[in-house]
Amino acid sequence: MKIAVAKEIDPAEPRVAASPDTVKKFKALGVDVAVEPGAGVKSGLPDTEFTAAGATISADALKDADVVIKVKRPEASELGQYKRGAAVIAIMDPYGNDAALKAMADAGVSAFAMELMPRITRAQVMDVLSSQANLAGYRAVIEAAEAFGRAFPMMMTAAGTVPAAKVFVMGVGVAGLQAIATARRLGAIVTATDVRPAVKEQVESLGAKFIAVEDEEFKQAETAGGYAKEMSREYQAKQAALTAEHIKKQDVVITTALIPGRPAPRLISLDMVKTMKPGSVLVDLAVERGGNVEGVKSGETSEVDGIKIVGFPNLAGRVAASASGLYARNLLSFIETMVDKTSKALAINWDDELVKATALTRDGKVIHPNFQPKSS
Ligand code: NAI
Repeated sequence: MKIAVAKEIDPAEPRVAASPDTVKKFKALGVDVAVEPGAGVKSGLPDTEFTAAGATISADALKDADVVIKVKRPEASELGQYKRGAAVIAIMDPYGNDAALKAMADAGVSAFAMELMPRITRAQVMDVLSSQANLAGYRAVIEAAEAFGRAFPMMMTAAGTVPAAKVFVMGVGVAGLQAIATARRLGAIVTATDVRPAVKEQVESLGAKFIAVEDEEFKQAETAGGYAKEMSREYQAKQAALTAEHIKKQDVVITTALIPGRPAPRLISLDMVKTMKPGSVLVDLAVERGGNVEGVKSGETSEVDGIKIVGFPNLAGRVAASASGLYARNLLSFIETMVDKTSKALAINWDDELVKATALTRDGKVIHPNFQPKSS
């Protein structure tokens, strides 16, 4: 069995799907690993690190691989290089991308979307949403601190006192929790909000204050899977009023609110932004799904009345070495379940719940129930 580690063709994607550590573990399983030249360079991993771990470096790595591992969904030009029947495992961003899923089916590959991994105990080690969101939450605070013209911690000096920055985190999933923890470590006064009641205790345990519209709808807002529901217009109006009142007094706002498979909820209007003090900073982690902040521009820091709105996509990619290391471990754990320990061959168990949840295409067809072509 041979695994190929693809070099990402998107110049804005610095992460890589393997690390020297995971290469060694694949080798120990009896699996060969071939890496495309330069695949790890932007994550601080030159080819020599991979060869030292037992991989080969080859420009033809993809051609005869049984499994291709990547960070992002392969584009048409890449699909042409894979052998039919190969398993391709990546962060596939499948929602709303039907044509791309069909292209993978037509190429005859078995595509697996790591972000569809069920959030069950057995699969925690494979949870890319968590491993990447955790780093994105951390990085969001670092970006905010960089863009903010003041210090985060309170400083009492002979020349006077610098007040602690006030940071408000909206959406307290994995990214939001890490943002709270990071802002607290930097000495900020942190408040946070979410529509899921379970979050309140977590926020308080990190030393932040929880603020939310806690009505009847809020009490029911969490799905069985632990995610948020899309809230009613009435709730959204109440939430907007609370947010408008609160953010006037904040120096930094970090938004991370997402609803699986839906556009990001719009939590902050431009009018609300304008009530903040000049020099304040908003960092919108939801920018790739349309943004929580009105006016956010992907890949840019825009300015409205002296208030900065930071809209960097792929914040985990801005901590590429750490993000790649964790992502590589997520992939290793998943692929370990696909290797026959005796024959050392690829043996995908199509009845396994992890496979069923993540498999998008097989034998020329889109097989995932959530992404069936509209006509069928
Ligand atoms: P996410 O990335 O889907 O959303 C981020 C946050 O935004 C969520 O906390 C969500 O409630 C919040 N949100 C959505 N709409 C909002 C609105 N209108 N206003 C304010 N906040 C809003 O969430 P993530 O980080 O993927 O976590 C979702 C859940 O999954 C959490 O309960 C988390 O603890 C759980 N989880 C479970 C794991 C497991 O293996 N069992 C692993 C990781 C997370």
